[in-house]
Amino acid sequence: MSQNEVIANEIARRRTFAIISHPDAGKTTLTERLLRAGGAIQLAGNVRAKGERRRTRSDWMGIERDRGISVVTSVMTFEYGGCIFNLLDTPGHEDFSEDTYRTLTAVDSAVMVIDAAKGIEDRTRKLFEICRLRDIPIITFINKMDRESQDVFALLDEVASGLALDVCPMTWPVGRASDFAGTYDLQKRAYHLTSELSQSDDRMVQLGEEIDLVRAALPEFDAESFMAGHLTPTYFGSAIKDIGVTDLLDALADFGPKPRAQPADTRVVDAAEPELTALVFKIQANMDPNHRDRIAFARVCSGRLTRGMRVKQVRTGKLIPMHAPQFFFARDRALAEEAFAGDVVGIPNHGTLRIGDTLTSDEVLNFTGVPYFAPEILRRVHLSDAMKAKKLRTALQELAEEGVVQLFRPQDGSPPIVGVVGILQLDVLQARLAQEYGTPITFEGVPYSLARWVSGDKLAMEKFITTQRTAMADDVDGDPVFLASSAFMLRRAIENFDNLTFRDIKDIR
Ligand code: G4P
Repeated sequence: MSQNEVIANEIARRRTFAIISHPDAGKTTLTERLLRAGGAIQLAGNVRAKGERRRTRSDWMGIERDRGISVVTSVMTFEYGGCIFNLLDTPGHEDFSEDTYRTLTAVDSAVMVIDAAKGIEDRTRKLFEICRLRDIPIITFINKMDRESQDVFALLDEVASGLALDVCPMTWPVGRASDFAGTYDLQKRAYHLTSELSQSDDRMVQLGEEIDLVRAALPEFDAESFMAGHLTPTYFGSAIKDIGVTDLLDALADFGPKPRAQPADTRVVDAAEPELTALVFKIQANMDPNHRDRIAFARVCSGRLTRGMRVKQVRTGKLIPMHAPQFFFARDRALAEEAFAGDVVGIPNHGTLRIGDTLTSDEVLNFTGVPYFAPEILRRVHLSDAMKAKKLRTALQELAEEGVVQLFRPQDGSPPIVGVVGILQLDVLQARLAQEYGTPITFEGVPYSLARWVSGDKLAMEKFITTQRTAMADDVDGDPVFLASSAFMLRRAIENFDNLTFRDIKDIR
């Protein structure tokens, strides 16, 4: 087989996806079922065991344990039906939308989990909108069918009208709530039941009637429309009872999107290209308390990454040796000997790699679409021990590069300001500064409520900076940021300096 054929074969069986849902819809339970179906974990218990797993995997910070939430994003790799699945874990907490957004830049599809009793909830909607923005195809899993649920037709209607999406049921629930007995595959006309049911069983009678209605009223599956993000194939199940989970996995294996082409500044990179390209979308520090490490998660976008090769970091032009790229499984990591488009590898490093970094075998290009968002909460960092100012400077820089917070150094030399999208990030920063760097801090309010990246020609910038000296800061890359005290002040600046651009999103380079 030629090199190109090997690559084509490998990427054809990669499925890289994330699960999006509102907290409590069942994402963790479903994740665990998927991993188990793929043989990635053997756990005795059910959801209870997830706590244990989380703890072993990412107990790098008391805060995560104390609050019972997952602060980190990571990847889990498993095999099923001849495919290699890379499941990227998105943090469930609302506060981490930036992280979540970046994670969604690295997937080819998303599974949207909906609680059958609650329907579409806030967070599902927000995440869905991010997926739509990026044209990510979505498979819907309606969970908790073993409980009292909304009327199924009403639910499908809610998804269709609430998200402006064609909804195509691929399976149909047999029985409801405590009588939920499995699913009927509308395409293959096959049953997946937990127990034998006779044709005269009420549930089968109801199913017969409903199927007629479904076929008459709802759209047929259309692969093209699905791939374009216009239609969502929909499955029913109960993660906790392990019903409908293999329907979902089979769907991903059968028609789930393969690694997609990725947009870069100079061109679009096709997944089947032979030369290596990869994108760092996440940095995670100290995942393992026994090994203080910093892992950059890179999605391979094309070609083949092999252990020992040297890759070019486009931002600096440096060659970086891939001594120990890693794959992550539910509980373990293993050295990655080779990885292909769609795979996510962890690259241990000491701060060389940053979010948004493009890695290539040689070509100079930068993948786009890994953004920073203008933070909505700004605080000044107050250091308790003035002797540690230098240490704090390094610590803040490192944590900002990791994406924990955004860092703004005021141009007037006053103490640094941090910006976050969600308030919980401040707690994370404070805890990590104290624990990992020995630099305890407190926060002080600032007279600013908005941050915008400003750009424009040199003269206009100079003029603007002179008039706004105290409200100007430099971000982690040294790019100028305007801190506005109110929406009114921002509007005024925009009006007075119409030759400058004020942006609330910055593409990371
Ligand atoms: P999340 O990650 O989306 O936040 O949800 P998670 O899987 O943690 O599930 C949230 C709750 O819903 C859990 O119950 C879980 O057991 C339950 N659950 C998940 N899937 C199903 C399902 O298919 N059917 C039913 N009936 N329940 C389901 P909990 O009481 O909050 O937690 P626990 O005490 O059971 O751990």
